[in-house]
Amino acid sequence: MNPIKFYQSQPIPLELHKVRIVQKLNLVPLDRRLLAIKDAGFNTFKLSTRDVFLDMLTDSGTNAMSDNQLAAMMQADDAYAGSQSFDKLQKAIQDVLGKKFILPTHQGRGAENVICRTFIKPGNVIPMNYHFTTALAHIMAVGGRIAELLHDDALKLQSDNPFKGNIDIEKLERCIQEEGVENIPFIRMEASTNLIGGQPFSIRNMMDVRKIADKYGIMIVLDASLIGENAYLVKQREEEWKENPMEEIIKMMTSLADLVYFSARKLSSSRGGAICTNRKALYQKMEALIPLYEGFLTYGGISIREIEAMAVGLYETLDETMIGQSPEFIRFMVNGCMDKGIPMVTPPGVLGAHVDAMQFCDHIPQEQYPAGALAAAFFLCSGVRGMERGSVSSARDENGNEVLADVELLRLALPRRVFTLSQVMYTMDRLEWLFHNRKLIGGLRFTYEPPVLRFFMGSLEPVEDWPARLVDKFRKDFGDSL
Ligand code: F0G
Repeated sequence: MNPIKFYQSQPIPLELHKVRIVQKLNLVPLDRRLLAIKDAGFNTFKLSTRDVFLDMLTDSGTNAMSDNQLAAMMQADDAYAGSQSFDKLQKAIQDVLGKKFILPTHQGRGAENVICRTFIKPGNVIPMNYHFTTALAHIMAVGGRIAELLHDDALKLQSDNPFKGNIDIEKLERCIQEEGVENIPFIRMEASTNLIGGQPFSIRNMMDVRKIADKYGIMIVLDASLIGENAYLVKQREEEWKENPMEEIIKMMTSLADLVYFSARKLSSSRGGAICTNRKALYQKMEALIPLYEGFLTYGGISIREIEAMAVGLYETLDETMIGQSPEFIRFMVNGCMDKGIPMVTPPGVLGAHVDAMQFCDHIPQEQYPAGALAAAFFLCSGVRGMERGSVSSARDENGNEVLADVELLRLALPRRVFTLSQVMYTMDRLEWLFHNRKLIGGLRFTYEPPVLRFFMGSLEPVEDWPARLVDKFRKDFGDSL
């Protein structure tokens, strides 16, 4: 989205859509929010949306759908096998991602399960830019390990490096030589590395990874869940690609990968997921697992209506004003917060605005989950639900030891075309208040910890009664305001 110039003020990210269906929201009173976060075990995943004002947990399955997507859903060709809706999806994937063999999955992690079961053997290593929670869990479930090969400065949260998602090519080659080609079934590249703040890789970097992959005969698997946003930032930040249409940028990235998979909950603003490739032999290796874990090969566990929406959503990904809406709001929020001294991840990435919880809550030891505490405190003072992306979201190692995360982030997701700018400004206002009162926030400890993906259903409690302190101060400053 090219920022539109304003006559009297600095440009703001102007919405290039109109809202025709709305959903009412409630901002419940402070006492209710306190009860709700206690009942949720200080884990924002366990809140009911009944108690949430602005749901910034994720963009997964929460992006706004277009009129054309909804219209397409009415034409669904419901059939167990051979659905014509699947033909439309196949054509869309071929047109947008340039791949002809398609395996539908119920969502992104379904694709990860099939890929990991097919290609990884116990003891294998998967080099990658950075892990995503579900990808790591599936790699570990089949006995694999990961090697994260970002450049050293990529975990520096405030930076002007435009491509913090790049793989360090020297580290990649060293890793292959040390681990042995035979132990590396594929290199995984994640478009817009989710867990480090939605940071993209450049096309130049992916080309360099391809050269190494070819040199050693290793495949590249691309997690394309956020490929539209990665392409949007390539267009903005990579000189050689400034003039190219989105379609060419996306196709260039996918053409450099042997296998592409994605969560359609993100990529096409619908539901579902898929794996696609141009290599028939790879397709055939995975084919049998689709009916076993997902559903028949022409629906893969996705409702046929959503398959129609997926096809339309994939084409819409090529529309810069659509795909740019969320990154432009994020940029507005990140820059506005930084101006007020709030520590944010920079440069602004995709998916959401990310708060650096280690700096925000520098008085809370990492063992007491500063990002989890910040997520709970922010819900309490705003009704806005963000997501912890830090040590609560980390998995314990194979010996059961706690693994502290590289970064502690509060992610405030801005799904596509869902929120208005005044809602974003409200969020920034409450965040500023919390920043000025940050010393009132205390740590958390687990009271219930599930063995896998503990962040989803785990429960925590405050190490002392800091929520009461925060509530008192809120009342003092805001009176009876919600
Ligand atoms: N890969 C990436 C990069 C993701 O961000 C996600 C999901 C997945 C794979 C898994 O896909 O949810 O459809 O099974 N990310 C969501 C999030 C959950 O909130 O960031 P899924």
